Amino acid sequence: MSRIAVYPGSFDPITRGHEDLIRRSLRFADRVIVAVAANSSKSPLFTLEERVQLAQKVLAGESGVEVQTFEGLLADFARQVGARIVVRGLRAVADFDYEFQMALMNRQLYDELETVFLVPALHLTYLSASIVREVARLGGDVSVFVHPEVERALKAKFAP
Ligand code: PNS
Repeated sequence: MSRIAVYPGSFDPITRGHEDLIRRSLRFADRVIVAVAANSSKSPLFTLEERVQLAQKVLAGESGVEVQTFEGLLADFARQVGARIVVRGLRAVADFDYEFQMALMNRQLYDELETVFLVPALHLTYLSASIVREVARLGGDVSVFVHPEVERALKAKFAP
């Protein structure tokens, strides 16, 4: 039986930090479904289609990885795709409360669902999509933190 993991998020946009966690997940999962949230409560910079396309471009050629969108409850989506693992990254103490609450709620909704927290590579620990958006918006260099396709898309978004 193949082990399917879901890696959910807004991916607005996908960063090197996300890529790092996806590759780490392939160490214990046969398939990783990158689940791009349609109903993110934040108002995203990139549309759902753009976020999916960027993730697909960045992850092209990565075997065992696919990109899907989901709407509604993550627990329902996981059940639907046959996943019993949810992957989330823990970067700092600040992430902990929210992540803990989400993991407990997801397991309450789908008892067989386990959340696995991964620690990112040291140099990506303080990276977030929101800080990347902020730096790109102000004209800073984000090439270390995102794939060239994402860098291009950010430049296009913030072009005067
Ligand atoms: O990248 P993000 O914004 O931290 O991702 C948050 C996300 C999309 C994973 C989370 O908001 C989510 O799972 N939303 C789906 C709705 C849901 O299932 N909510 C109940 C779990 S607390």
